[in-house]
Amino acid sequence: MVGARTRSVALAALLAGAVVGQDAITASGTNFTLAANGMSYLFHVDTESGDLVSDHFGGPTTDFLPPAYISSSGWHDNLANYRREFPDVGRSDPRLPAIHIEHADGDTVSAFLYRSHDVVQGKPSLPGLPATYGNASDVTTLTVQLYDNVSDVGAVLSYSVFPQYNAIARSFKITNNGTSNISIERAASFSLDLPNLDLNMIEVQGDWAHEFNRVLRKIDFGETTFRSTEGYASHTHNPFFALVTPTTTESSGEAWGFNLVWTGSFEATAQRFSNGYIRVLLGLNPLHTSIRVPPGEQFQSPEAVAVYSTEGVGGMSRTFHDLYRNHLSRSQYTFQTRPILLNSWEGLGFNINETSLVSLAGEAEELGIQLFVNDDGWFGVEYPRDNDTMGLGDWTPNPAKFPDGLDPYVEQVTNYTILNSTSKLQFGIWVEPEMVNPNSTLYHEHPDWVLHAGKHARSVTRNQLVLNVGLPEVQDFIIGFMSNLLSSAPISYIKWDNNRAIHEMSRPSDDYTYILGLYRVIDNLTMQYPNVLWEGCASGGGRFDAGLLHYWPQHWTSDNTDASARLTIQLGTSLVYPPSAMGCHISAIPNGNTHRNITIEYRGHVAMMCGSFGLELNPSELSASEADALPAIMAAAKRVNPIVISGDFYRLALPDNSNWPGVQFISADGTESAVFAYQQFATLKPAAPPLRLAGLDPSARYTNDLDNATYSGATYMNAGLNIAWLGSDYQSKLIWLTKQ
Ligand SMILES: *[C@@H]1O[C@H](CO)[C@@H](O)[C@H](O)[C@H]1NC(C)=O
Ligand SMILES: *[C@@H]1O[C@H](CO)[C@@H](O)[C@H](O)[C@H]1NC(C)=O
Ligand SMILES: *[C@@H]1O[C@H](CO)[C@@H](O)[C@H](O)[C@H]1NC(C)=O
Ligand SMILES: *[C@@H]1O[C@H](CO)[C@@H](O)[C@H](O)[C@H]1NC(C)=O
Ligand SMILES: *[C@@H]1O[C@H](CO)[C@@H](O)[C@H](O)[C@H]1NC(C)=O
Ligand SMILES: *[C@@H]1O[C@H](CO)[C@@H](O)[C@H](O)[C@H]1NC(C)=O
Ligand SMILES: *[C@@H]1O[C@H](CO)[C@@H](O)[C@H](O)[C@H]1NC(C)=O
Ligand SMILES: *[C@@H]1O[C@H](CO)[C@@H](O)[C@H](O)[C@H]1NC(C)=O
Ligand SMILES: *[C@@H]1O[C@H](CO)[C@@H](O)[C@H](O)[C@H]1NC(C)=O
Ligand SMILES: *[C@@H]1O[C@H](CO)[C@@H](O)[C@H](O)[C@H]1NC(C)=O
Ligand SMILES: *[C@@H]1O[C@H](CO)[C@@H](O)[C@H](O)[C@H]1NC(C)=O
Ligand SMILES: *[C@@H]1O[C@H](CO)[C@@H](O)[C@H](O)[C@H]1NC(C)=O
Repeated sequence: MVGARTRSVALAALLAGAVVGQDAITASGTNFTLAANGMSYLFHVDTESGDLVSDHFGGPTTDFLPPAYISSSGWHDNLANYRREFPDVGRSDPRLPAIHIEHADGDTVSAFLYRSHDVVQGKPSLPGLPATYGNASDVTTLTVQLYDNVSDVGAVLSYSVFPQYNAIARSFKITNNGTSNISIERAASFSLDLPNLDLNMIEVQGDWAHEFNRVLRKIDFGETTFRSTEGYASHTHNPFFALVTPTTTESSGEAWGFNLVWTGSFEATAQRFSNGYIRVLLGLNPLHTSIRVPPGEQFQSPEAVAVYSTEGVGGMSRTFHDLYRNHLSRSQYTFQTRPILLNSWEGLGFNINETSLVSLAGEAEELGIQLFVNDDGWFGVEYPRDNDTMGLGDWTPNPAKFPDGLDPYVEQVTNYTILNSTSKLQFGIWVEPEMVNPNSTLYHEHPDWVLHAGKHARSVTRNQLVLNVGLPEVQDFIIGFMSNLLSSAPISYIKWDNNRAIHEMSRPSDDYTYILGLYRVIDNLTMQYPNVLWEGCASGGGRFDAGLLHYWPQHWTSDNTDASARLTIQLGTSLVYPPSAMGCHISAIPNGNTHRNITIEYRGHVAMMCGSFGLELNPSELSASEADALPAIMAAAKRVNPIVISGDFYRLALPDNSNWPGVQFISADGTESAVFAYQQFATLKPAAPPLRLAGLDPSARYTNDLDNATYSGATYMNAGLNIAWLGSDYQSKLIWLTKQ
């Protein structure tokens, strides 16, 4: 177990003259300055119109400057040339709005003008929504009340600044103060107009087994945009992007990061207008919005987080990692080392029963595995889950496989004492609570619980349909069967899977209601069972998002366990989410997805770069050389885990740019560093470049176990390590540095 800590070593250096508490937000009249240690965010109220105007988001500044000169003659004038904080519709701004409301009479014009503001220490929670949190010394919150007195609709913008992290969380709330329904058509949680800067966007793109591939696009005139219309964040994109200058690198230059704390459909846009200004928008996907707000009721947007770094893309990532571990994740496991697990799927698939599972758990225990996970196939009575065509929704243990239910079987598994330890083997189990097979008792009893649109066909994917988790009765069903399951046997871990996207819905806003329902369910279960280690999964990384990371400390990263493909996927995921939150396993070769054969050392090194390390193979099918190598790999994984969980992470060289990728973790106290170095393909010439390290104290001396020498931090960072690579593909090394 590793103690929680409040800030990274790198950030600690910035703390001399630190911004704290009440200094973080100042309001001079209605000129607002949000200050962090290395960042300022400025906006003000245009006193003539009452509109909010963006002034600055970037490095520290102290003054409000006049805006750029733009000729106001001709076609565009007025608001079209303002940098706006909360752009609404109509009123001479033709750019995309952050807020778009259809009023009862059908018009969609809004005029949200300043009324008042408040500053409070700390951060009020967002009822029913995942969000960052912190106490009065961690975070300060500014709320700005706006009102449209034509439509009688109010808006409250909320900005929370975390001074130690160069981070701002923003959300807004709409109140319908009129007498008729209104409909929210568009809601961007973060919206900001940047000046005419030359910027590129980094986002991640992918698919199943191919998540989180970094793409770089120029922010040109028009819209640079991407979205999910799949009901969840999905594998296709993630609700994250960075803006960087053309000279920003991994380790230097300005980077702005934006991330939505939301699990449903989303949209991200950078829109460059004719005047060069860049409008940044991140929020709900308008195709899945149309959220009705009756008179007297409110709409609360999800939260978006924005961070700023001058230490390049890597600095931006470390800011997210630190903020999310300290102020987003609320699991008690966030800063705890995770048990090494073995998952039954690759070994047994659906072909399971009490006998075969107890026997596999015995093999796992003999390898030193700490957590045995029973994957799919354990449930279904009338529709036994012997394959993926039936059973989802019927969460009763199958009596042919478990004649006496789960408890006696789980007691046998947890009765094993782990090799070289006095601890008992832990037990975990797989569920997919949001899904149902048409071949199930649940579906026959409740066909209306499934998301559908009238008489339209219900499109089946992987033989399954999606329950409408927006319905309170579905929420209670999931809470009920999960509570029964968790109290039926000593279960320490849950893998919560979700294997298809949402398609037909009765209204576009069903996705929004669904996600709120899902949060209610997960909030309830994680509060009831805080000692359970929860892992999210969605056909791999299909829901690796900040919303779920609020409740669950870890997420399965990808169904692709090929170590070469995984390196790209894991480094892409680390752009925004901490490696400590990733689940990564060694699987058998030839790899099931790519048919590639990669050494067990390389597979092990790639997997142990994640907070949750494990095996996903049948131990009896290991080759003799793999079995011989495994104890050392397990020992290395245990040694590195505390540093992965709470240390700082540096991407030294990327697999898509270098044949010799590398990453580095530095322990929270700076005394130890673990360097992972890889050679993808054997080469005769040229020589591998030196692997230049990062994040060390330049004047301190560190011993390394590559050549057993001691060098200064400056030497490691400026000259680097020369690694003698063998002449074969897929070689890897784990190198330890110890501060003297
Ligand atoms: C707000 O900033 C403007 C400059 O943009 C300045 O003219 C004005 O005096 C400031 N108001 C207050 C109350 O500080
Ligand atoms: C606020 O939380 C931090 C940890 O994030 C803790 O060190 C500090 O003592 C807390 N302060 C107060 C006033 O509760
Ligand atoms: C709305 O407010 C503005 C200024 O705050 C005022 O000039 C205008 O008369 C108001 N309009 C209505 C319809 O009350
Ligand atoms: C909401 O409407 C009521 C009744 O018209 C009015 O008294 C109140 O001031 C309005 N609220 C705001 C924030 O303007
Ligand atoms: C359990 O499964 C194994 C392997 O498929 C099989 O040999 C065995 O007969 C099964 N046992 C029971 C009690 O069904
Ligand atoms: C799936 O399992 C059920 C129950 O054992 C069996 O009847 C059915 O034939 C299987 N279907 C497929 C496609 O294997
Ligand atoms: C647990 O293991 C002990 C020692 O091997 C054995 O005596 C006992 O019966 C086992 N209990 C269960 C529930 O399997
Ligand atoms: C129901 O299960 C049967 C047997 O496995 C399968 O052939 C059929 O396709 C399933 N029906 C649906 C709708 O998945
Ligand atoms: C969880 O939900 C159940 C059923 O709705 C309720 O009785 C219970 O109080 C809830 N518990 C928590 C911790 O939210
Ligand atoms: C991987 O190894 C297997 C078994 O040793 C062999 O049959 C297969 O050809 C190898 N595949 C590749 C792509 O090298
Ligand atoms: C267990 O301990 C033995 C004897 O000390 C050692 O040889 C072996 O490598 C250890 N295995 C693991 C997985 O730690
Ligand atoms: C470094 O020291 C270790 C342990 O003392 C030893 O096993 C290893 O061979 C040494 N490596 C080199 C390159 O000298």
